[in-house]
Amino acid sequence: MSYFDGIKNIALKEEPIILGIETSCDETAVAITKGGREIIADEIISSALEHARFGGVVPEIASRAHTEAVLTATENALKSANLTMEDIDAVAVTKGAGLLGALLVGVSFAKALAFSYNLPLIPVSHIRGHIAAAYLADKTLKPPFITILASGGHTAIVKAESFYDLKVLGSTVDDAVGEAFDKVARVLGLKYPGGPNVERLAKDGKNSIKLPKMLGNNYQGSEFDFSYSGLKTAVINYVNSATQKGEVMNGADVACSFQHAAIDVLIEKAFKALKFTGYKTLAVSGGVGANGYLRDALTERAKTEGIKLVLPEKRYCTDNAAMICAEGYLQYRLRNFSDLDLNAQAVVEF
Ligand code: KG4
Ligand code: ZN
Repeated sequence: MSYFDGIKNIALKEEPIILGIETSCDETAVAITKGGREIIADEIISSALEHARFGGVVPEIASRAHTEAVLTATENALKSANLTMEDIDAVAVTKGAGLLGALLVGVSFAKALAFSYNLPLIPVSHIRGHIAAAYLADKTLKPPFITILASGGHTAIVKAESFYDLKVLGSTVDDAVGEAFDKVARVLGLKYPGGPNVERLAKDGKNSIKLPKMLGNNYQGSEFDFSYSGLKTAVINYVNSATQKGEVMNGADVACSFQHAAIDVLIEKAFKALKFTGYKTLAVSGGVGANGYLRDALTERAKTEGIKLVLPEKRYCTDNAAMICAEGYLQYRLRNFSDLDLNAQAVVEF
């Protein structure tokens, strides 16, 4: 019998032990969960420092770092959970979106584990994984809810109608919000990863610089769409023009004004979506969800408007493997298992 013939009709467990692997960017992450909500191990080996001197992630360096780290991260996860591979019921892995070479390391490793231990192999969308992090944060959370998806690659207001039906109400028409944070960081001379450094600098600044509003009144698309490219360019032009004129520029004010412009619109549109749908729960997902200004502003607004807010810990907003286990568990229940011809995809449609 072939590997997949043996797997596809396997008896499902109520609370399977899932090992999740995430290698889409610069974090080699391996986690183990019981069912979809209880984290029993969670390891991350980051290659961020290796990329810092280049100002951004270098795909080839990321792939090599994953190759070196993936076995160690897995061994560490098993050790910290006090489990062996014999205890694992399924292997979930990020199939995309992300850097192809980096993804391939995780996918190949996951295939090898699934084949060797005769386990279901569950391909997981990184984007759905980010959204599923909310289930780890609130063990009672059930759809429907609205989620702000704000990462380095995606920016969207998503309507989670059920565990499986995710509708995009609006998304960015150009850059992602995290990408804008990273580019602004660069022009301000801050190190990669830019987002947390812009946040740190913004703490000493004032929201005093007027920046353009995104998507003017003539915009024909969804009212939940975003555009970050104009904002990013305005900040870059502001900094370059000040530098050329030899003016003293207050970087903290630039960071603070940018942060307000980039984040306030996420909050506005999320609450508009809550009103539009009548939903009463808002979740946050993706790396920018770790931003303190966003978290504080959302907490306050949710309180005033009587909205339940689900804020995953910062660690579960940025890339991690527990979120891959959480989404992997949902796919496990549908028996969305893959054969060993699974390939990585640089782009996935959700
Ligand atoms: O979700 P994530 O870890 O990876 C992707 O799937 O893209 O998101 C990474 C993005 C980066 O652009 C990073 O600068 C941004 O999230 N980010 C932040 C913060 N922490 C991470 N942006 C603003 N404030 C932060 N504290
Ligand atoms: Zn991510």
